[in-house]
Amino acid sequence: MSDLPTPNGDLLPCVRASGPGGGATRTLVDLLANSECPGLTARRRRREELTGSSHDPIVWAVARGANVVDVDGNRYVDMTGGFGVALLGHGVPEVVTAVQAQASTLLHALGDVYPSAKKILLEGRLAALAPWPARVILGLSGADAVEAALKTAMLATGRPGVLAFEGGYHGLSYGALAACGYKLAFREPFVGQLNPAVRFAPYPSAAGSGRAMEYVEAVLAEGRTGALLIEPTLGRGGVEPAAEGALATLTALARRHGALLVADEIYTGLGRTGGLFQSIAMQGDPDVLVIGKALGGGLPVSAAIIKEDVAAAWGHPVGEAIHTSTFLGNPLACAAAIASLDVLQRPDTAAMIARCAASLERSLRSSLRSPGLGVRRMTFVGVLVGVAIDGGLRRALAVCRSMLERGYVMLTGGVAGDVLTLTPPACLTEAQIEDFCANLAGVLAESPDP
Ligand SMILES: Cc1ncc(COP(=O)(O)O)c(C=O)c1O
Repeated sequence: MSDLPTPNGDLLPCVRASGPGGGATRTLVDLLANSECPGLTARRRRREELTGSSHDPIVWAVARGANVVDVDGNRYVDMTGGFGVALLGHGVPEVVTAVQAQASTLLHALGDVYPSAKKILLEGRLAALAPWPARVILGLSGADAVEAALKTAMLATGRPGVLAFEGGYHGLSYGALAACGYKLAFREPFVGQLNPAVRFAPYPSAAGSGRAMEYVEAVLAEGRTGALLIEPTLGRGGVEPAAEGALATLTALARRHGALLVADEIYTGLGRTGGLFQSIAMQGDPDVLVIGKALGGGLPVSAAIIKEDVAAAWGHPVGEAIHTSTFLGNPLACAAAIASLDVLQRPDTAAMIARCAASLERSLRSSLRSPGLGVRRMTFVGVLVGVAIDGGLRRALAVCRSMLERGYVMLTGGVAGDVLTLTPPACLTEAQIEDFCANLAGVLAESPDP
């Protein structure tokens, strides 16, 4: 790894004075504008109009640890952790080695028919993560695994109804999209093709848990709901944790009314929020745990981990598998996931995550305490952090762009788009955290609430 421009990923940013990107980036961005779905390029133009600054992407060339280097050689610190995937850092050596070894022997097997050894080993490892006897359905994306969970609920309960939550995000393929309470804009154009049996309850956050539970109970009592689908903390929805006791109450309500509780732990699971599963740490007892993102350490793999007695609802078919796909259990992704789990389950990894979470919280609280910065609220759930700011989407986008110019990759989140959402790799160094917080304070001070 020593020939990489950022061998350990522990360096501070280094962005040229002319700003992110450069000549190589410009060439590629022009190419992109000519080939990608036009909606994405149009979105960048709209953002430019809104904020008065460029929203052209940087083009990633190398990523290690917390660092990303673009095709022009600018170095950044990735405060998104690649949408939360790089919980352990980008290019974790154990994962890279496992993928290289696997690539030299078997790239592809026959999914549900003739699997690779790696797929079998991974399913065993995943089943053992649950606190109860479990069966596993693998997927390629988070949405895939959510859909496996929803199909399981349909089979186990015979009910098509799904009760999801306002602000919840579960992916954008049709089954998952139907349950997307995050933004109407995602569902609206496709609503004619979506499951009409989905309802949305208010999210049971600390402020509104009582009202949410009344709504949930009323809908479940109608007897048409097969799946109660919740993120224990809203991720894209603005880093909003469920209230204390909410997961236990939802478990009891689901049991009472014959629905399955499905915990979408794609963001929160595998250590990002502290424990392996936040829903269980919050005293919930889900029937299905859904994971993705960090599982593959950068390769696309996800899983629905299902209680064994519930999974029995898939029956004893003799024909073709009724839930599978060409790349199911891809050996490369499974090898990466096994290596990721090896690292994720080490005690020193849990300690690293706890250290990073504590340090990020301490530093953000101290850097952003001045009321003049327009910070409305900060939420800390392990290394899932939301900084809600005044000034709406426009200011949040402008802040993210200014931070990119200073070498920090960030994303906005929340239903109104005004929550700076931080899901960094937990291998961030103290120096990176302090420099990030100082820069964020500086950028917020320079970008007053319009
Ligand atoms: C909680 C949650 N569920 C599901 C998904 C969908 O995962 P994917 O984009 O891999 O389909 C996401 C993605 O951000 C997510 O945050």
